[in-house]
Amino acid sequence: MRAEQKIFIDLLKKTGLTQHGFAKKVGWAQSRVSRCGSGKIHLNFTELQELANAFGFQIKRKFEMVRREKGWWVCADNDKKEKDLSHYRKEYERGECSAEKTLQNPVAQFQKWFEEAEDETSDEVNAMALSTLGEDGYPKTRMVLLKAVTESGFVFFTNYNSDKGRDIQEHPKVCLSFFWSHMERQVIIKGRCQKTAAATSDAYFEKRPRGSQLGAWASDQSKAIRNRDALEEKYRMFEEQFRGHAVPRPPHWGGYVVQPQGIEFWQGGTDRLHDRIRYTLKAGAWQKTRLSP
Ligand SMILES: Cc1cc2nc3c(=O)[nH]c(=O)nc-3n(C[C@H](O)[C@H](O)[C@H](O)COP(=O)(O)O)c2cc1C
Repeated sequence: MRAEQKIFIDLLKKTGLTQHGFAKKVGWAQSRVSRCGSGKIHLNFTELQELANAFGFQIKRKFEMVRREKGWWVCADNDKKEKDLSHYRKEYERGECSAEKTLQNPVAQFQKWFEEAEDETSDEVNAMALSTLGEDGYPKTRMVLLKAVTESGFVFFTNYNSDKGRDIQEHPKVCLSFFWSHMERQVIIKGRCQKTAAATSDAYFEKRPRGSQLGAWASDQSKAIRNRDALEEKYRMFEEQFRGHAVPRPPHWGGYVVQPQGIEFWQGGTDRLHDRIRYTLKAGAWQKTRLSP
């Protein structure tokens, strides 16, 4: 049975009307109602929606347009009810954050919050979302791991030829965000991104487990690959190549440092009256502003 037909029959049942009553109400010939019910006349989704609206019903099933046939949209019902997420409602009540309570230097403030977040969970609190602007004009966000906070900024490591690597080369302005759910805190960092010194990348690469070092050689990050076997085959090839030697850092793999220009701290508050403190770098000095939630 077609999805539309199922909905139509459902609608008939829901109105509690007989076919005759239904036909009268919508101004159709009764034969049309029965032919729709038997699937001999196809109604498109918009028409069904209009019918449903006339009786005060909403069609909530999710539809997927699959192909257009004889002027009608043919729909495949994926049979899932739309998930209602409106019941998710968390009260934030862990604490407050004010311009007075926060430190003058946002990087020091970040470190303080980072340590507090670390103290209360074994999760990866150094996981951060990195947003870059792609050549297609779309921003893209993915997780990376913060590996150091230095005087120059926030450091992570990756493949320079990956999507993010190419994005950064074209648009060095990036955004990092942390969400520490258990602390009811978020930090957003905007800044300029540049490659770390080769010596920094070397030093970190040397500390990685050998398996991860070989993985960095085996993965052409963000490029299409035939299948998993092909990836593992490449891994074994490099394993063989470097057998008995230290694995050198691939030239296309290394660190980036994000030098912050603006850092925003968010602490969840009761009644959605959250605290937001934004630091902006102006003429070499950090200025603090409280923002509306
Ligand atoms: C928790 C987490 C941490 C990650 N850390 C890194 C990382 O430090 N470096 C990295 O290159 N990819 C990391 N990834 C994978 C990236 O999210 C992403 O899939 C990969 O870098 C390719 O991104 P791109 O194609 O946009 O360049 C991590 C993923 C997760 C879920």
